[in-house]
Amino acid sequence: MAYISESTIAEVQNRADVVSVIGEYVRLEKRGGRYWGLCPFHSEKTPSFSVDPDRKMYYCFGCHKGGGVVNFLMETEKLSFPEAIESLAKKLGVPVVYANQGGPSKEDKEREQKTETLEELYRRVAGSFHHILLKKPEGEAAKRYIRDRGISDEMTERFRLGFAPDDRYWLYKFLGKKGYSDALLGESGLFSRNNKSASFFSGRLMFPIADRRGRTVAFGGRTLKEGSTDPKYINSAESAFYKKRETLFAIDLALGEIRKTREAYLAEGYMDVISLHQGGITNAVAPLGTAFTAEQARLLGRWAEKVYILFDSDSAGQEAAVKAILTLRNSGLSAAVVDIQNGLLDYLGNGNQGDGAVKIKDPADILQNFGPEALQKSVKYSITDFEYLLKRSRSLFDTSVSEGVSQGVASLFPYLDTLDSEVARDSAVQRIAEFFGADPLAVSRDYRGKKTVAPLRRDVPRLRMNDELFLLILVFVNHDLYPKLRSEVSLEEVKDSGARELFIALEEWYRNDTPGIDDLFNRIEQPDLKRFVMEQAGSDAFKVNAALAADDGIRRIKQKGL
Ligand code: UTP
Ligand code: MN
Repeated sequence: MAYISESTIAEVQNRADVVSVIGEYVRLEKRGGRYWGLCPFHSEKTPSFSVDPDRKMYYCFGCHKGGGVVNFLMETEKLSFPEAIESLAKKLGVPVVYANQGGPSKEDKEREQKTETLEELYRRVAGSFHHILLKKPEGEAAKRYIRDRGISDEMTERFRLGFAPDDRYWLYKFLGKKGYSDALLGESGLFSRNNKSASFFSGRLMFPIADRRGRTVAFGGRTLKEGSTDPKYINSAESAFYKKRETLFAIDLALGEIRKTREAYLAEGYMDVISLHQGGITNAVAPLGTAFTAEQARLLGRWAEKVYILFDSDSAGQEAAVKAILTLRNSGLSAAVVDIQNGLLDYLGNGNQGDGAVKIKDPADILQNFGPEALQKSVKYSITDFEYLLKRSRSLFDTSVSEGVSQGVASLFPYLDTLDSEVARDSAVQRIAEFFGADPLAVSRDYRGKKTVAPLRRDVPRLRMNDELFLLILVFVNHDLYPKLRSEVSLEEVKDSGARELFIALEEWYRNDTPGIDDLFNRIEQPDLKRFVMEQAGSDAFKVNAALAADDGIRRIKQKGL
């Protein structure tokens, strides 16, 4: 463990603005004295995650996670305490002073250096592939391929596309010369597991995959051999710093526009995303060769309210679109589905639909055959997720027979499940009935009949407020009052078990002299007490005239003792 000096820890915690730090992860809106947003720790559709700027803490009323800004970074970025402090310090420009003369321990340094070298390694490899594509004779064919697909040089640059040489041993030799150790290369995920000098990618067009800060963490590689038995795309394996489920292709490039518009476009593949960016749709991203996950939805939900789904128009793409709708809805986002085929027809106008020889399946096809402007216009053709599901159900089931109607109606039930207001559900039921020519009451009855009864949840016994608890929570959240409390009240005078636990936590924290509320909160052992304190801490009762309220509380305890 690295020992960061108390003064650095204190300064970082004092200077950190909890709203702006957490605001980088969660879209926050001010309501009353607090900020609210969708919880980053569990899936939800209505905000129960709150940030209290005065107390410098966050709390989720849904999953009951809570704490200070350091805790937040530890949870979301999976950092240790010193790492979280270091990362905040960097952001705030606070120099980190280490308590032990040696600074961070040897192991810490090694671990840090390793992540840094891996980061640098990926940057270097991406740079080399890019250079080979642009400047070397072996990159010629790939360069021609990209241009044939209508991708501009500007996009090749922006996405840092590259080419991995045919020679499977080139990369190993190249990096060996730069002094990278076998051990590090082994961990990089860039080489075959069985043959550690053979590159995982060779003879492929390379797509660097970056995290949201723009650091390359993985690659996708496309074969240039059309019709060969090689897989069309291969992707880097997961590693300590790359989790497929939590990453979206191009999120680093799209983030600015997503923030601005609160909308995102979700496409299927690398080429589609690049095509969309070229068409000016710079808020486009894609999952990475797997189904769109709840984690990815939550990632988008930090900045976006609405997502336009732009999957391939084949049946696999459309099935994936249905799943994506439900995933998005369950994360509190609304969705629309883009119909690029009709969008394109609309753009081209009647009588100018080409010779019909070109099969248009995805955005990349439009770019290649009709150019960026056609693509930009084609994606404007969208319908709401609900209308999309209705239409799709009619094409899947034979609604001329009653069996088909009831199946069609039932296919909408998963969508109804995602709505969390009765009013919204009611109006959706009306629409379904109208769409299928059915009786709304019957639709409603079928829906309720098929829903399994949710098991009754026994509520956690709630703590009751009393004078002692009130005083201790008050001092807990205004901890500069603690020295006064301990000089006037002793633990023996406090009878309530919750209040006693808070007293003990405060005393330990005080004697350890660890600054900041993160450490203080972590000292509460009982989960329901912790939850109670977090829920109460934000209320005005503990903010206004805290010192006077504490005097009053102390007096009451003294009176009771007499
Ligand atoms: P597609 O097969 O639709 O690829 O797969 P694409 O984007 O249209 O490819 P082009 O236009 O022919 O170049 C969509 C995505 O699925 C993943 C990739 O992430 C791809 O972008 N995929 C596809 C794989 O991971 N492996 C494969 O073999 C194929
Ligand atoms: Mn494609």
